[in-house]
Amino acid sequence: MRALRNEIVSKLSVTMHKLELNETKWLDFLGTSTDKIHGDVTLPCHSFSKVLRKSPNDIAIEIAENVDSDLLEIVEINVVNGFLNFKANNSWLSKQISFINSDSRLGVELEDEKTIVIDYSSPNIAKRMHVGHLRSTVIGDALSRILLFKGHNVIGENHIGDWGTPFGMLIEHFIECENNNVGEIDLSTFYKEARYKFDNIDDFANRSRKRVVKLQSKDPETINLWQSLVNHSLIHFNSVYRMLDVLLNDDNLAGESIYEDLLPEVVERLTSKNLIVESDGALVVFPDGWFNRENEPLPLIIRKGDGGFNYATTDLACIINRVESIGCDEMLYVVGAEQSQHFSMVFQVAHDAGFMDDKIKAVHVPFGLVMGSDGKKLASRKGKAITLKELLEESISRAEKLILEKNPSMSDSDRNEVSKMIGIGAIKYADLSIDRNKNYIFDWDKMLSFEGNTAPYLQYAYARICSIFRKSSISRESTLESEIIIGNDFEMSLCKSIIGFSESIDDTISSYSPHRLAVYLHHLAQDFASFYENCPVLIPDDKKTMSSRLALCNLTARTLRTGLGLLGIETPEKM
Ligand code: ARG
Repeated sequence: MRALRNEIVSKLSVTMHKLELNETKWLDFLGTSTDKIHGDVTLPCHSFSKVLRKSPNDIAIEIAENVDSDLLEIVEINVVNGFLNFKANNSWLSKQISFINSDSRLGVELEDEKTIVIDYSSPNIAKRMHVGHLRSTVIGDALSRILLFKGHNVIGENHIGDWGTPFGMLIEHFIECENNNVGEIDLSTFYKEARYKFDNIDDFANRSRKRVVKLQSKDPETINLWQSLVNHSLIHFNSVYRMLDVLLNDDNLAGESIYEDLLPEVVERLTSKNLIVESDGALVVFPDGWFNRENEPLPLIIRKGDGGFNYATTDLACIINRVESIGCDEMLYVVGAEQSQHFSMVFQVAHDAGFMDDKIKAVHVPFGLVMGSDGKKLASRKGKAITLKELLEESISRAEKLILEKNPSMSDSDRNEVSKMIGIGAIKYADLSIDRNKNYIFDWDKMLSFEGNTAPYLQYAYARICSIFRKSSISRESTLESEIIIGNDFEMSLCKSIIGFSESIDDTISSYSPHRLAVYLHHLAQDFASFYENCPVLIPDDKKTMSSRLALCNLTARTLRTGLGLLGIETPEKM
C-alpha cells in the first residue's frame, strides 16, 4: 500500500511537527502492517517514548487525536499496543480502483528512461543447452519484459561463448568427423569427443593449439569452419528460444568473439593506469582486497603466458563496449552464483581502470541450481544430463495429458496450443516463483499442479474469468467504465490486491527478483478465489452489484494476464 503510505506521510507531517516528533525517524518506522485486520499502514510509537516520556500507547493516542481532518477522509485510525494503525477507507479504495480500472497500464507508472543492458542466457557454442541455462534465460527474459514495461531502453545481450582456446580442438575434431557435414553433428557428444581426443592424443592436441593460432590470426579457412560450427549451434539455441517463447533472437547476439579486437586495448589501458603486473610470464591485475586461501593476493589474469586472453579480459572489453559504444546506465549480468567472484573482481578492475564510473550500475544477478528430486544435479532416468529441449518437450506432453483429462471435449488444435502454454508456463513459473538465490528441486507433479503456487493455478484463474464472461454475454471492455462498489471484506481484499500490482513490479525491479511478482500474482489469485466463492457474480436481479463484480473479475483477469505476460507466461482463455 505504497500509494496510501505516501498520502499518509504528506498528511501526517504537520501533526508530527506539532507534537515535536519531526526529529524522530518516524518516516522509517511507518510501514506496511503485518496485521491486516487493524490496518494497512502502521506507525509503531515505541521509540518515541524516550522523546515524549509517555507510554507508546499514549503517544499513539495523542497523534491520533491531533491528525489533520484531511487524513481522516482517507483512512480509519485505531491504536493497538503502541501501534497507530491506518486502514484505507472505502472511499479511498474506490477512487484508486476506479482509476486503475480505467487505466490501460493498471496503475503502473512509467519511469524515467534508462538504457539497461541485460546479459543473459549466454550458452556456449558446440554444446547443447542444458537445464542450467534455463534459469539465466527465463530470469533474464522476465527482467527484460518488466523493465521494458516500465519504459526503459532494454538491450538484451546473449554473450555466447564463441571464442577462445577450446575452438582449436572443436575445429580440428570437426575436420576429422567423417562426412564433415555440420548439419549432422550431434552437439550432445561433439564437445566431449573433442575433449577426449585433446586429452589423449598428443598429435591432436598439438594440431588444436596450432588451430587456435590460425583462428586468432583470422586465417580464412579456419574462420569459415568456425562460422559453420557457430551457425549450427545457433540453429539449436534458436529452436530452444522459440519453444521457450523468450525475446532473444539473432539481434541479441553479442558473443565473446565480437570483443576480440578490443582485447589488446584492454591491456594497453590497464597498463597506462599502472594496474598490470607480470607474474610467471602472464599479465595480471591484483585488485585490492582479494586473497587466495594461502592469503596471497589473488590475481585477475588478463593475458596468459602463451599470449591467449582470458574470460575476464573479454568481460572487461565488454564493459568498455557497453559503456562507451552503447552508452548504458546499467548492466545486469544474469549468471549463476558460481561466477560471483569473477564479476566482483571484473567490476572492481573496471572501476579502478576508469572503464566505468559510479554513475553506472553494474550488477551481477546470481541464481542457484536446479536439482533433481534426489537433491542432486538434475539428470535423466538413465543418469545422463537432461537437455533443455527434452525437458520442454516432456513438459508439453505432460500438460497435454492433463488437459485431456480435465477437458476431454477440447478440440485437438486448441489442446495443442493450450498444452504449450501450460507446459512451458509451468517450467518457467517453477523457476521464477522461487527466490532466485535459492536452489530448487525440479518436480513435475508440483509444477504442473492446478493447486498451489503454480502457473496452471494462475492460468486457470484467468481462464475461469474468461468463462464467466462467456456465460454472462457481457463484454470485458464494457466493464472498464463500471462503478466498483466495495460492499464486503472479500471485495475489499481483492481491491487491495489489485491496487498492489504497481508496487509488486517496483519491488521486483529493485531486487531484480521476478519471484516478487510471482508471489504477488499468487496472492491475487487466492484473493480472487475467496471473492468468487463468497460473492455471486452473475446476478441479473441486482444489475449494479453484477456490473461492479464483473468489473472486479475483469480487472483481476487483466492483472493476471499482464503480470504473467511480464514473466513471459501466456494465459489461455480456456483450459
Ligand atoms: N558463457 C558463459 C558460461 O556459460 C556465461 C557468460 C555470462 N556473461 C558474461 N558476460 N560473462 O559460463
